[in-house]
Order: sequence, then C-alpha cells, then structure tokens
Amino acid sequence: MSSPVFHYRHKSLCVEDVFLSDLAQWVGTPFYVYSAGKIGSQYLQYEGAFREVPHTICFAMKSNENLAVCRLLASLGAGADIVSLGELYRAHQAGIPMSKIVFSGVGKTEEEIAAALKAGILMFNVESSEELDVIHAVAQRLRRVAPVSLRVNPNVSVDTHRHITTGHAENKFGIPLSQAEKLFMHASRSSWLKIMGVQVHIGSQILDLSPFRETVRKLQGLIERLEEKGIFLHVVDIGGGLGVPYQGQSPVHPSELARIVAPLMKKNVRLVFEPGRFLVAESGALVSKVLYRKETGRKKFVIVDAGMNDLLRPALYEAHHPILPVHQSAALPSEKADVVGPVCESGDTFARSRLIPHVKRGDLVAFLMSGAYGFSMSSQYNARPRAAEVLVKGHEWWVVRARETLRDLVRGEKVPPYLSVKKKGR
Ligand SMILES: Cc1ncc(COP(=O)(O)O)c(C=O)c1O
Repeated sequence: MSSPVFHYRHKSLCVEDVFLSDLAQWVGTPFYVYSAGKIGSQYLQYEGAFREVPHTICFAMKSNENLAVCRLLASLGAGADIVSLGELYRAHQAGIPMSKIVFSGVGKTEEEIAAALKAGILMFNVESSEELDVIHAVAQRLRRVAPVSLRVNPNVSVDTHRHITTGHAENKFGIPLSQAEKLFMHASRSSWLKIMGVQVHIGSQILDLSPFRETVRKLQGLIERLEEKGIFLHVVDIGGGLGVPYQGQSPVHPSELARIVAPLMKKNVRLVFEPGRFLVAESGALVSKVLYRKETGRKKFVIVDAGMNDLLRPALYEAHHPILPVHQSAALPSEKADVVGPVCESGDTFARSRLIPHVKRGDLVAFLMSGAYGFSMSSQYNARPRAAEVLVKGHEWWVVRARETLRDLVRGEKVPPYLSVKKKGR
C-alpha cells in the first residue's frame, strides 16, 4: 500500500517531492518524517465539515507534540487539547492562542490548574467532583473565575482496541451521566466557576461512527434537562476519536460526523472538537534501516534499527503499520517475515509473519501512518537516543527535532559523591 503522500518516483519512495533516501543520508536513521501538505489537507477536511456553525478545532497535542507540527496547525486556525503543564508550555511555544486551549485529563494537579487559569485557557474539562472542588479553590485563591466544562461518560461501546475506549462505564474517564446534573447544579452555585459546557471523548481510532449517534442523543437529553433547571451551555465538546485506515479500511470523513452531530448544531452553542490521530497519523512515517536478516528454520526475521522505544503502538496495542521498502526491487519475491527492532523485549515486533517485499541488510524501510502517537510515545528505553523528526513541504524539508545525543541520555543525572569514580588521567 502506498498513498498520494508517500509515493514511488523512479522506484524510490518520496514524501511530497522529497526522496526518503536523501533524507536518510542527511539525518541518519531512524527518523520520523511528516508531510505538511497532508496535515493541512486533513485539517481543512475537518474545518470544512463544520464551516456553517461556530466551532473550534483543538488539536489533541498528545498525538504529536512537535512544535513545528503544532505551529503548522495553529497557523491554520487550530487550538489545542492539552493534558499537562508540559503541553501547555509546548502550546505556548508553538503560538497556539490560549483562548483556544481546552485542558483534559483525569489527574490535573493544583499547580497545573493554577498555571492554566493564569494563562487564560478556554476551559477545563473536569472529570470528577473532587477536581471541580480543587478548581474552585484555586480560582478563589487566585481571584480568577475558572471556565469549566464537565466531561461526562455516556457509557457507549465503541468497536476499537480495549486500551483506547474511553466512554464506557468501565473506563476511568468522565463523570457518569447519572451524576452530571447534580454536579452542574453544584458548579452553578459557585461564583468562582463559569459553566462553559459539556464534553465527551468516547474513544480513539473509531471507524464506525454509530456510537457518536447514541452519544449525541444522550447529550441532547442532558442539555434539555439542564435547561429546565436554568443552566444554559455555551459549548459542546465532542472530543476526538475519528479513525484512519491503517489497514486499508474505508476512511471516515468529518462530514459524516457533522451529519451525526447535526442536532447539536441547531442548539445555540459552540462546538469543540479534539482530533489528534485524524489530523496527523497519515502524514507521518518512521524510516528505518535493515540491520540484519535471520532465519531460524521456523521463522524469518528482519531486524531494523528502529525499536519499540521509537514506535510503541505495535507493542502496546498490536497496532498495524504498513511497511514499505524505500527502494522498490523486483529481484526477489515477497516473503513472510517478522519485522523486529533491536530492543531486548520479544514485544519489540512491528509485524508478525507479514508478507513484505524482500529487503536485505542496509535497505531502508518506512513504517507508514506513524504521524500520530509515534514520536510522542517514544522513550529512551534500552538507552536509545530518540529519533530525529523532519517536516517536508513540497521539495523543502527541515529537521524539526534533532536526534538525541548520548549526552541527552544522562542529562540531569548525578552520582552521589560517595559513589563517584575517579576518572583515570585526572
Ligand atoms: C480527551 C481526549 N481528547 C482527544 C483525544 C484524541 O483522540 P484521537 O487522537 O483519537 O482523535 C484523546 C485521546 O486519547 C483524548 O483522551
């Protein structure tokens, strides 16, 4: 499978107008590469679907926190869905207007709440009554009214991996619908809280949008019951969750979501969306070099220089990423192989018994659809410096994050004096 973003020219894989092999020569491997054009076109699809109604698209930064990527989305009009003080800092660095930032997450600290309140964010998506009380206390202490939405858990089932469903009663997220009205009433009595609206996020990688229909129906019911009690919402935040075709499934289009949320569009509210994966997944690839081939009699292994520390999704969720050779060659037939990394874990496996084109030591391969939850989930596990990131636009490209160095691996660490070793020659 190749895509218009990643396509072959003279049998060599390109992103937009840049050859991946050229990038590999300049930056080394492994590296992430993102297409600015693809990110822009995904954003405009979303934007276009809701053009007719007041709305804000808050990019879920956790999917790709690179400053250049966030800046690109901000330049198109995006805000951000953040989940930590670190993401608030990154959003600020990327020039995302604070008035377009929503703060999600079940475990916001007082320090994070105070910083976001001072920064003037659009709203906190509150996940529990204790959190609401803490926000109230911080607001009172800082003498600033805190804008809040309540994240409700609509208890809908979504057909996705169990680690990425979030809107079911079993999940840790949100306030049960049965408790929401009482909490809205409680919030409405505080002069330090401004009720902005209601938020949901039912899960991720959703390709069948019907659970959104049930969610919208439940939200409508809640909104009407609140109106009867004199509480009028300004914002309805639908969260993110639209899936992408990792395995060639039919893609979903935000206009399908627009049809489903149409009843909410008739209400006098601003719609907020928090897409992550939909905006950036398809724009990115992780490019890696084949280190070795190995045949054990039972299996063939292709060992590459990227590991689960670089791209965790296959190990964490058994996620599928299409794998393409950077140079096409018909010399040898395709073969079934396990594609694995160098990390000392059996889980460090990108594909099991997958039919892939024959590749040999030194060849480059690209793991497509890695722009979301790729680099942002990466780590230094096995003391492996994190990969470089490159942004491509047409025939131009920029290293938007340098490869980490060995020094980066030990930054901030100190050995107590009683353990320190005298270095020879000093
Ligand atoms: C609250 C919230 N909003 C938005 C998102 C983004 O989801 P997706 O990348 O599937 O669009 C997430 C993902 O976990 C989330 O937890």
